[in-house]
Amino acid sequence: MTLLSLEKVDFAYGRGTPVLQQVSFAVEAGASLGIVGESGSGKTTLLRLLLGLTRPTAGSVRFDGEPLDTRSGSYMRSYRRQVQAVFQDPYSSLDPRQSIFDIIAEPLRSLRIDGDHGNMVSAALDAVGLTPDSLARYPHQFSGGQRQRIAIARAIVARPRLLLADEAVSALDLSTRVRIVKLFETLAQSMTLVFVSHDLGVVAALCRDMVVLKHGQVVEAGRTRDILARPQHPYTKTLIASVPRMPQGIVP
Ligand SMILES: Nc1ncnc2c1ncn2[C@@H]1O[C@H](COP(=O)(O)OP(=O)(O)O)[C@@H](O)[C@H]1O
Ligand SMILES: [Mg+2]
Repeated sequence: MTLLSLEKVDFAYGRGTPVLQQVSFAVEAGASLGIVGESGSGKTTLLRLLLGLTRPTAGSVRFDGEPLDTRSGSYMRSYRRQVQAVFQDPYSSLDPRQSIFDIIAEPLRSLRIDGDHGNMVSAALDAVGLTPDSLARYPHQFSGGQRQRIAIARAIVARPRLLLADEAVSALDLSTRVRIVKLFETLAQSMTLVFVSHDLGVVAALCRDMVVLKHGQVVEAGRTRDILARPQHPYTKTLIASVPRMPQGIVP
């Protein structure tokens, strides 16, 4: 079943040159999809469209078969419950004045979700591998990797169907990055994942499917395994060649 799809999406900022052109792809429910491309290729813009934060200039974004109704407050509240995101910078994304409990519980409050928020926060904290004593503490007491775990806990606390990640491990040092990629791998077993990164190696390790974006256009899409084994586009070949110690082993 297709959970999310883009059909011939164009996007430009104001009257500027097009940033996305005729972008089409589908995300299957339960699968993990990586979007790779160099800096400036339009990945973050694409993610903003998927989150309903901006609307395509042409074409459509569909969730569960229906176009996103970004103008409706009640639709968007329900959408946010189902689709959550994690961003690159674990420093700027957490409010330094809020306790970890309040940070993780924020979607439950803003989305007006019923139930025992304490239990839901504890479950999310446990899922990201942090201990309960973290809840009364503040962001400055945590490392970059721990902060990213907190941001992930906030993203999954309302049990979304789809988790979007934008360069979510790019700011982390190598060993932390490996651990957070493992966490995403575990989470991807129970939700659909769209993982955006300029780093093909990370996407190759994590995602079953892959879309290669160049200057706002999809140049290649399909099973990660197939694309790595037989890249069709010269750009994809360049990306593969630029991954340090790429081959075998890390491919799922
Ligand atoms: N708010 C904005 N206004 C105008 N141009 C933008 C804005 N954000 C991004 N861009 C431009 O859109 C293109 C794609 O950017 P972005 O989606 O951030 O790519 P990526 O995430 O792949 O690095 C770039 O040329 C960038 O300069
Ligand atoms: Mg980006």
